[in-house]
Amino acid sequence: MPAAHPLREIQVRTGHPDFLELPWGAPLKQWAQLAGRTIEMPRGLSRHEVVFLSYDQAVYAFKELTAGAAEREFDILRALEERGLPAVTAVGHASVATEAVDAEGSVLITRFEEGSLPYRMLFMQPGLERYRERLLDAMVSLLVRLHLGGLFWGDCSLSNTLFRRDAGELLALLVDAETSELHPSLSDGQRGHDLVILEENIAGELADLAAITELPPTLDVWETGDQIRQRYERLWREITTDLSIRADERYRIHERIRVLEGLGFSVSEVQLSPVPDGSLVRMRAIVTDFDHHRKTLHGLTGISAGDRQATMMLNEISEVRATLQHEGSPSVPMSVAAYRWLTERWQVAMERLAPEREAGGDLAEIYCQVLEHKWYLSERAGHDVGFGVAIDDYRARSLADPLLPSPER
Ligand SMILES: Nc1ncnc2c1ncn2[C@@H]1O[C@H](COP(=O)(O)OP(=O)(O)OP(=O)(O)O)[C@@H](O)[C@H]1O
Ligand SMILES: [Mg+2]
Repeated sequence: MPAAHPLREIQVRTGHPDFLELPWGAPLKQWAQLAGRTIEMPRGLSRHEVVFLSYDQAVYAFKELTAGAAEREFDILRALEERGLPAVTAVGHASVATEAVDAEGSVLITRFEEGSLPYRMLFMQPGLERYRERLLDAMVSLLVRLHLGGLFWGDCSLSNTLFRRDAGELLALLVDAETSELHPSLSDGQRGHDLVILEENIAGELADLAAITELPPTLDVWETGDQIRQRYERLWREITTDLSIRADERYRIHERIRVLEGLGFSVSEVQLSPVPDGSLVRMRAIVTDFDHHRKTLHGLTGISAGDRQATMMLNEISEVRATLQHEGSPSVPMSVAAYRWLTERWQVAMERLAPEREAGGDLAEIYCQVLEHKWYLSERAGHDVGFGVAIDDYRARSLADPLLPSPER
């Protein structure tokens, strides 16, 4: 009787390789010798074996788990994606026969998150100082978003999070959902439990880091956990508290939406319930649509960007639109303004950013950094200095590493 194939079953989403040629009979730690595509990528600490393989389409992360665990994690990551929540993208899962007779294991396949950094890199790599300061806000914002979307994380930690630079801010996303549960909504007890876990994990992780590198003064090993809790509670309250509005105060609805958007949340729906005597309405905002700005920008321009980057570019497009309307065009659709912005600003900037593009830099991030730098220079000069001047000055100030989007000021 021929030996059974070590790959019992594999499920892969369309648009990705079928991965059939991989040495499924061998444990992942041997894949470096057996599979030609393995590459080293920055990664966090983990109990399970994780390897990265490079294909034409993308780089993929493979994680070895016990039988059935990969499928479970895959399902949760898919559900997070459907709810627009920030997490790595699940690509597939496989069920394999392990070396032990009759034993089974499973492998989770996710897409390597381009431009993502494990927290240790954030602290060890020079030039990323300003992003370290944002670590707490990024973690708090991630946890609030996941909780709003009904995810109990169960193992919330810096190691289970990836960080991306996003227009000078830091964006956090979930990378490890092994212990997670999805619910229609979370109880206060479940949220509190996640916070306790995060506080404990982060204190341990920062203590480890402090032993090998200097932490910024804002990240104290013993106080950070408590600060996270306080910030989390403030943000949670800000987002979920109902607002009572008098009939003649309708403008407060828009005001509140703007506040929530300013905190980086998109308001997908507003529920209003009038109080019986008609004097008041109660407003509740529904905020889960994490990808709102990214999707809108992509739909209008085809550009893929981070959420804050997208917000900045959409603001520029709105500005172009306002100018066109001011110049006499009646109502200008956003698509028309987006086209003008693409040809007159983005494409012109991309020509000037040719060296960065050739060096493989994150163009959306560099564009937004130069944009901020242009505002700063223009404010100082008292007139618009233009993108060309801003990019030259920006480059001169970030000579140490031209790809790091953080000129000294
Ligand atoms: N899709 C991905 N993109 C980028 N990095 C990834 C990806 N998947 C895994 N990693 C890296 O591999 C590390 C380990 O992954 P993960 O946390 O899922 O493993 P784990 O063994 O389940 O962890 P734990 O010890 O917390 O149970 C992550 O910290 C991350 O740096
Ligand atoms: Mg992990």
